[in-house]
Amino acid sequence: MKISLLGGTGAFAEGLVIRWAKAGHEIFIGSRKQEKAEGITNEMLEKAKSVGVDASITGLTNEEAAKQTEVVVVCLPHEYAKSTLEGIRGSFTNQIVITPVVPMVRNEETKSFLFQQPESGSSAAEIKGVLPDTVKIVSAYHNIPAKGLANFEKELDYHVVICGDDEDAKKCVAELTEDMPKLKAIDAGQLELSGMIEAITPLIVNMNIKHKHEFSIKFV
Ligand SMILES: NC(=O)c1ccc[n+]([C@@H]2O[C@H](COP(=O)([O-])OP(=O)(O)OC[C@H]3O[C@@H](n4cnc5c(N)ncnc54)[C@H](OP(=O)(O)O)[C@@H]3O)[C@@H](O)[C@H]2O)c1
Repeated sequence: MKISLLGGTGAFAEGLVIRWAKAGHEIFIGSRKQEKAEGITNEMLEKAKSVGVDASITGLTNEEAAKQTEVVVVCLPHEYAKSTLEGIRGSFTNQIVITPVVPMVRNEETKSFLFQQPESGSSAAEIKGVLPDTVKIVSAYHNIPAKGLANFEKELDYHVVICGDDEDAKKCVAELTEDMPKLKAIDAGQLELSGMIEAITPLIVNMNIKHKHEFSIKFV
């Protein structure tokens, strides 16, 4: 499958790029700058090669990357996600758009990370608001720490809670999730639940900093 990652040059995208390339997907790394996308693409190709993966990865601008693929992952910080997507809205037709975006802020006094709920209830709802109605939004991956994800040899024994309004799109995202050993996708329901999934992330981030660990989520 062809997958593009907007802001694919950042910390969170790295693990997704290699893990999906390893599973045989065709990856497009998006950036505001073509040269930066190409530079990171070369680094990713080297990393993939070092773990014996003959990867297909291409670096493009965010605008071009989104046009190329059936699945687009929004790997952008919350403060720039909405404006970036508004700026490249013309690149979207009927793609599946995966959002792992977490709206959170740091309390500079206590150093804790806190959830900052958008007016619309979630970052996913904000993203839905700026993209064409034909796009299918699926919320996923908020609770996976980038560090563990980027450690390609590591099996991720976590659950990934997903939500969205299109059943086929969620099925596709569940399959893409389970292409990354040993993640298991759990469909929580409609996209309106996304705020609750997003809100758990700062709790996990604070725990990971406090305990120097890579906690994520597993339901029993
Ligand atoms: N890090 C984690 O552990 C983690 C875990 C779960 C979910 N997430 C979510 O994943 C998303 C990406 O996180 P991240 O840690 O990868 O973020 P990041 O490294 O800070 O940023 C990702 C990319 O965003 C682009 N960017 C930066 N400033 C921008 C601006 N002003 N306008 C447009 N694009 C800009 C940059 O790409 P270019 O310079 O190439 O354009 C950058 O490489 C966030 O929404 C985060 O909440 C992160």
